[in-house]
Amino acid sequence: MRFAEQWTSSTVVSTRNLTSLIREIVLEPDVAVTTCAPGSHINVAVMIDGQADKRSYSLVGPPEQGRLRIAVRLAADSRGGSQAMWALKPGQRIDITHPTSLFEIDWSRQHYALIAGGIGVTPMLGIAAALARRSTELTMHYAVKSRSDAALHDELSSLLGDRLRLHAGDEDARLDLDATFRALPEGAVAVLCGPLRMLEAARHAWHQAGRPASDLCFETFGSSGRLPTSEFRVRIAATGSEIVVPRDRSMLDALNAAGFEVISDCERGECGVCAVDVTAIEGEIDHRDVFFSEHQKHDSGKMCACVSRARGTVTIDTLYRPDQLPGAVA
Ligand code: FES
Repeated sequence: MRFAEQWTSSTVVSTRNLTSLIREIVLEPDVAVTTCAPGSHINVAVMIDGQADKRSYSLVGPPEQGRLRIAVRLAADSRGGSQAMWALKPGQRIDITHPTSLFEIDWSRQHYALIAGGIGVTPMLGIAAALARRSTELTMHYAVKSRSDAALHDELSSLLGDRLRLHAGDEDARLDLDATFRALPEGAVAVLCGPLRMLEAARHAWHQAGRPASDLCFETFGSSGRLPTSEFRVRIAATGSEIVVPRDRSMLDALNAAGFEVISDCERGECGVCAVDVTAIEGEIDHRDVFFSEHQKHDSGKMCACVSRARGTVTIDTLYRPDQLPGAVA
């Protein structure tokens, strides 16, 4: 892993619903966290169908009295993580990592546009609070399907006032990324957290607006794809053997469980370390990473095993020699 993860135990202090599908969970780590970078996230150890797994959640605002606040959207299409998190009760013990941030924000600029899509609002609260403390020009755009989905809206509203723009799809107030980016002054930075489709649209609009790619900072949800999350098969080109990737496991997990040592780093679809070579597809790949370009995704010569999935069967080249393959007789 890129970061040596520091795990600690924590206690669930409280839970409450922020919307009908978003639940806030307050955790108290055994070792109190007093400070962390705005936009930080933690990994949480969960049991899914009796198997140990982990999920990543952004912190909502800075730590308060050593406690950490996260918010979890109950996803019908999830691989089981959100159900496990929604089942947590006050007093329960759960292992978490120390907060770290993947946002690489240049805090020295004068103008910032924050863009949040749905549950992507969670890291934005802390980033908005940090920027609001500085004498910067700041506007936050918060896109949701409907106003009732807008978790944390009141908190953001009291923090930002009229610098907060809510874009509710059912109120015909959709976020126009092209116009938003075109209107920004030179040197502005945009910080985005939202689903993959939103990020892809933002990258396109940012490029069209002639802005430097490095001035668009983002995080996305590794679980958001174009296709429903379902079981698929991976065929090993050298042997023709097949591995089933269940809907609640990643391709990376399935390959490693079958004895193929696929190296990984971020496990969030951001670094490309886990990329495997694809030699044939019977079906369709659902690229869920933010590492490959649109062109590379279209070619589908590689896929990120940590987050990307497929419909049907994907044949991959593991780069193992046949005598090195798991199960081969020496
Ligand atoms: S481990 Fe980073 S993209 Fe998969």
